[in-house]
Amino acid sequence: MALLNVNIDHVATIRQARKTDEPDPVWAAVQCELAGANGITVHLRQDRRHINDRDVQLLKETVACKFNLEMCMAEPMVKIAEKIRPDQITLVPENRAELTTEGGLDCVKFQKRLEQITKRMHKKGILVSTFILPDEKQIAATAEAGCDAVELHTGQYANAKNDKQIEKRLNELRDGRDIAMAAGLIVHAGHGLTYRNIGPVAKIEGLCEFNIGHSIISRAILDGMRKAVEDMRKLIETGI
Ligand code: PXP
Repeated sequence: MALLNVNIDHVATIRQARKTDEPDPVWAAVQCELAGANGITVHLRQDRRHINDRDVQLLKETVACKFNLEMCMAEPMVKIAEKIRPDQITLVPENRAELTTEGGLDCVKFQKRLEQITKRMHKKGILVSTFILPDEKQIAATAEAGCDAVELHTGQYANAKNDKQIEKRLNELRDGRDIAMAAGLIVHAGHGLTYRNIGPVAKIEGLCEFNIGHSIISRAILDGMRKAVEDMRKLIETGI
């Protein structure tokens, strides 16, 4: 069965809305782990718009399941990964203006840099995955660079508008899985996966790790709302 890494960036986004200390993504990570998450994923962005250096350090010390650090290939980020030593890094493209990661990493264009980073990570015992579109050339470049895994971008599947488009995107993911596995890569998947659309992707054999954030954090907010309001009402009633 595939493993679930919960991406908790949005917890930090809420904290940063007030630049205060709650909700703490480290506390959230503990809750995810107690609920059975197999891993915790965070994206340390260069602009530190949500997850910050303190979070990454504390998560490394706290998380007992897999700690997957998403980051771009910029040198300061690579140095942070060498220092923190997460279990895995997932290399993503990063554009400062984007709302979330857009498109996949261009591993063909940056193959040399990817190879250098992978060697450095392997020296520290860190697995390397690349976030890519399910494209043959990108998968080949990832394998040639010596990476351990690919995370196939499921955004196009998530955005598919009708059954025909959905089937086309699922077939691309299946083909990507085949090419990646033939090249000796472990296959992950993520982006845009929700409670409504996870079913068909979860059925694709060989996809062994999902990274899911937005939908889980959204569900957590709604599921927790009733108790949160009840708790505040009680305090107002008792005045304690
Ligand atoms: N995988 C990667 C590489 C991502 O950048 C993201 C978004 O941060 C996700 C998975 C999770 O996407 P979502 O929040 O849409 O579940």
